[in-house]
Amino acid sequence: MNDMNAADRAARLRDEAVDTLVAGGTVTTKEVESALRKVPRHLFAREAPLEDVYDAYRAVVTKTDEYGVAQSSVSAPQVQAMMLEQAGIAPGARVLEIGSGGYNAALVAELVGEAGEVTTVDIDPDVTARARRLLDEAGYSRVRVVTSDAEEGVPQHARYDAIVVTAGAWDIPCAWVRDLAPHGRLVVPLRMRGLTRSISFNRHGDHLASTSALVCGFVPMRGAGAHRETLLLVNGTDEIGLRFDDGMPIQPQELDNAVRTPRAEVWSGVTLGRQEPFDTLQLYLATVLGGFCIMAVDPTLDSGVVAPTNKRYSLAAVAGDTFAYVTTRRTDDESSVEFGVHALGPHRQQLAEEIAAHLRRWNETVRGGSGPTIGVYPAGTPTDQLPGERVIDKRHSRITLSWPSPGETS
Ligand SMILES: C[S@@+](CC[C@H](N)C(=O)[O-])C[C@H]1O[C@@H](n2cnc3c(N)ncnc32)[C@H](O)[C@@H]1O
Repeated sequence: MNDMNAADRAARLRDEAVDTLVAGGTVTTKEVESALRKVPRHLFAREAPLEDVYDAYRAVVTKTDEYGVAQSSVSAPQVQAMMLEQAGIAPGARVLEIGSGGYNAALVAELVGEAGEVTTVDIDPDVTARARRLLDEAGYSRVRVVTSDAEEGVPQHARYDAIVVTAGAWDIPCAWVRDLAPHGRLVVPLRMRGLTRSISFNRHGDHLASTSALVCGFVPMRGAGAHRETLLLVNGTDEIGLRFDDGMPIQPQELDNAVRTPRAEVWSGVTLGRQEPFDTLQLYLATVLGGFCIMAVDPTLDSGVVAPTNKRYSLAAVAGDTFAYVTTRRTDDESSVEFGVHALGPHRQQLAEEIAAHLRRWNETVRGGSGPTIGVYPAGTPTDQLPGERVIDKRHSRITLSWPSPGETS
């Protein structure tokens, strides 16, 4: 295919991808829409076929480690558009992007215009060299590219009206708040108890308050801010794995006898329609259940001891010598599923009932609401000065969550 045809095809595929994002409600402003229609994404993802580059829901991996795990990518258009809408970037703004692929920085450059400033930082010199080259070739030489660990921020070009983080963060380093303008906005994929949400925060003095939290996935942050989950293999075999985000609440051997007990089963009466989202349920359980974790079962070793609906990813919790996970069953008319709990261990009935009660409480008090209000306060802030009902402690910050009822806005 000659260059002219390839460029035409790219432009057509790009428009179709943007049409998809507008129709799906991800793109809501003319500004983000026109940036997406203008910037030639394929120039920043040359390793992939055009159909993949312009698949609205597909990331293009640009670097992997020795095990084939993605270390850098050009994120999926849907995720980029969603975060840019959350960021609300105005013409003339100064913006820091953390994690560089080139393409997203070019979109930001379109949003801020000639009067604005865009800085993108990446920890990986291969990534920044590539981003620099591709930005220059695509006509975005005015974007600054910096190589460093974003844990320390990029103070030399601060303060920023917006910071958009494009790697999965476990914590909010103090430098990000320090480098934000007084009413600046931080958009960050933040992991809380193993669940990642793209959260837009407004700065209020020394703390941040959320304006939205949306489901997303990202390659994890490297460098000083990297944080690994802890894996507990139940009964010492690879069959049942429990992943804890904030350290393990128990000694591994405490659970060894749990798998020898029969399974308790409690159904909650809470049902969910086929396409209905339930991301607030995940975050709700993650914050109200002590010992919250994610359970995965190796299908090749499946002995039937546990029988979750989703073998690769089930919400679970450990309490001492007992563990439990959330599962579902079809309702009689097959139009929806009902949530229930399976539990194993000496206190199985008690733990299953407790989690089922939380499922009902979510249904009655949280479901259909606007989702949690999330705050970020410096580590060391006394608990009596924190808002919200739940606190998740990180290295640099204390994350607060409160749950408005349906009808209340967060
Ligand atoms: C998903 S990619 C960035 C995508 C990019 N914004 C785009 O245009 O689509 C995530 C990047 O974050 C970078 N990263 C990870 N940890 C980092 C850190 N501590 N400081 C700066 N960059 C980091 C990775 O090297 C990777 O290139």
